[in-house]
Amino acid sequence: MKKSDNSTITSLFEPRSFAIIGASQNPKKIGHTITRNVIEGGFTGDVYPVNPDGGELLGRKVFTGIGEIKGQVDVASIAVPAKFVVNVVRECAEKGVKHIHIISSGFSEVGNIDQEREIVQTARAAGMRVLGPNIFGLYSAKASLNSTFSASAIMPGSVAILTQSGALGIAMIGKTAVDNIGLSAIVSIGNKSDIDEADLLSYLIRQEETNVIMMYIEGVKNGEALIETLKEATLRKPVIVIKSGRSARGAMAAASHTGSLAGSDAVFEAIMKQCGVLRAESIDEAFNWCKYLAFTPRPRGKKSVIVTNGGGIGVMATDACEKFGISLYDDQEILKEVFEPATPSFGSTKNPVDITGGANSGDYIHALTAPAASEHMDSTIALYCETATFDYENLTPMIRDTYKKHAEAGKPITYAIVGGESVDKSINTLRKENIPVYGDVYEAVSCLSVSYRYQEYIQGHSRRFDEIEIDTGKIDSIIDTALSEGRKFLLSHEGSQVMSLVGIGIPGEKVTRSIEEAVEFAEKTGYPVVMKIVSRDILHKSDAGGIALDLEDREEVIDAYEAIMHNAKAYDPHARIDGILVSEMVKQGVELIVGARRDPSFGPVVMCGLGGIYVEIMKDITFRGLPINRNEAMAMIKEIRSYPLLLGARGENRKDIEAVAETIIKVGTVIRKCRRITDIEINPVMVYDRGMGVKSVDARILITEKKETDQ
Ligand code: COA
Repeated sequence: MKKSDNSTITSLFEPRSFAIIGASQNPKKIGHTITRNVIEGGFTGDVYPVNPDGGELLGRKVFTGIGEIKGQVDVASIAVPAKFVVNVVRECAEKGVKHIHIISSGFSEVGNIDQEREIVQTARAAGMRVLGPNIFGLYSAKASLNSTFSASAIMPGSVAILTQSGALGIAMIGKTAVDNIGLSAIVSIGNKSDIDEADLLSYLIRQEETNVIMMYIEGVKNGEALIETLKEATLRKPVIVIKSGRSARGAMAAASHTGSLAGSDAVFEAIMKQCGVLRAESIDEAFNWCKYLAFTPRPRGKKSVIVTNGGGIGVMATDACEKFGISLYDDQEILKEVFEPATPSFGSTKNPVDITGGANSGDYIHALTAPAASEHMDSTIALYCETATFDYENLTPMIRDTYKKHAEAGKPITYAIVGGESVDKSINTLRKENIPVYGDVYEAVSCLSVSYRYQEYIQGHSRRFDEIEIDTGKIDSIIDTALSEGRKFLLSHEGSQVMSLVGIGIPGEKVTRSIEEAVEFAEKTGYPVVMKIVSRDILHKSDAGGIALDLEDREEVIDAYEAIMHNAKAYDPHARIDGILVSEMVKQGVELIVGARRDPSFGPVVMCGLGGIYVEIMKDITFRGLPINRNEAMAMIKEIRSYPLLLGARGENRKDIEAVAETIIKVGTVIRKCRRITDIEINPVMVYDRGMGVKSVDARILITEKKETDQ
């Protein structure tokens, strides 16, 4: 049900008229605060306060009902108790209002789903869009519109914030004021009954005033639309996300808090990465990143240099660089040439460049001007530990000066300064000037690293995706058979058939219905072979004694056939038995797992990881939202911790990594194109030496009657 186009959302952010329903004379009421913020915030369009008592409020005529207003109302903010909201929404729909903000709480977040649904239906029927319910409102710098009930004034700027939590959003407004971060917009999305992040992003990514977008998310409802919009957004500007609900307990709290599904965090994490979204761990980190990305130039190349007056802090920064994947420039000759004039003989021109504890502001200016001017270095990490010999009064001017030099050269620099009260004072002053100065090495390096991460994403990004041609007709008839037998899963040999239809190697196998047939097939395939019971009533074959492995000759096959039949009948005398599957005994390889499923939030996703019986314990798996291309499939494989096994650990040959990537693409294609398949899991996928391919040993496929929407 995607409904937004950018032009309709534009009038949400840039309305020409604004009504407040519930505009009270009482300054303690939310409706009063919103009216005051709209008027005092400098909104230049028409303002229409609405209250049954009429009269005048803050110099404006108060209308007794929305119907009394003569002109067009682009946006109406509703701040009346929940029980009145449905009626008010009807009146707005009759009036032809374009958008409503529902400030009121008391809807799906507390289980009142019916009224929320009714509101959306009424609005949709009238072509009206709904923001909320359960929100604090919206600020849009472009329209000088502050329709929030925040106590602090909002400074216009270039950062846009979308937040699902209202209280946190209001706190963020306060924080932006303290941190001197100007906002292009802040929007509270609340219960997302209609307008969601994707709708709002579609406007913000095209809006010139917005340089960086920050989102606080608790749960994702329409994940596929969000993925599409995020991919488009990150190509134009950085997007930072904070998502709560990382822990299982947190996810439960989030689900009950906003009435939305928090989703699996591993999937969320992987998809954000895939979309180039930068996920912050904390609010402080998100704000630091926002500021850094908004005010500091992006690095043009990878080579970074650390300049320090202390060895220890230099090592800490080196560790942080390694953790965040920042490469340190290490051409010793050039480093010597560039830094020798600024480094005492007992210092070091190696990277970290140590200008020693005796360095004063002049030495710092010298040493930090050098990388700004050098063609060999792309970014600088400047570190300072408070010392008695440093001319403290010059610390702030030194940082301003060297920051400016870097800005003029179009290069990023980040500062970590550690010390007492005077250092804190310096940090506060400089942060207000939007200079990236931190009291901790990790914070400073983390900011530079997101700039690198974002840059790398933009450079390596491709919109191409790979899929294979598949015969969905044949797969459909396998599914039809299973469903007609009342099954929501495919039997093992049916799973193998699907694999073989999409060209994924499977062991040679046949369902046999007599001892003779079993022996004949085993002789043809070659020993050893494996035999398994085929029964829709026996899911756990080993428990039923329905599996025999490593059968070496004719006699063993005959014995196994009789034993499996006997065991199966003893296990479940009523089980319907279709026969016994005889398969080639698969050679050992590296055991991976490849799977796909329809994620309730993000739609079809594909998964790859270390397989075998320890999947659950090792949890060495990685996800992507579909569709993907071969490069992304390769990146997935490289991400798993067990990747060295595929490169050939302990003198073994390199494995057929390309065939694994191909398998990921194939499994992804099946889940996208066969809409009645909900889950695929091949475990193990045996991976052989390069050029020898893979074999799907056990493919479990779950199905449903209804066609799940995809693509
Ligand atoms: N049209 C216009 N005004 C109406 C109205 C209608 N149909 N029905 C009632 N009003 C008026 C009331 O008369 C009152 O004005 P008054 O002070 O002049 O009498 C005003 O609207 C507000 O109604 P009131 O009953 O006093 O409610 P309230 O201000 O105490 O609370 C909400 C209203 C919406 C703020 C409250 O119900 C609520 O939901 N609070 C939570 C909001 C929230 O936290 N949102 C999420 C933020 S993150």
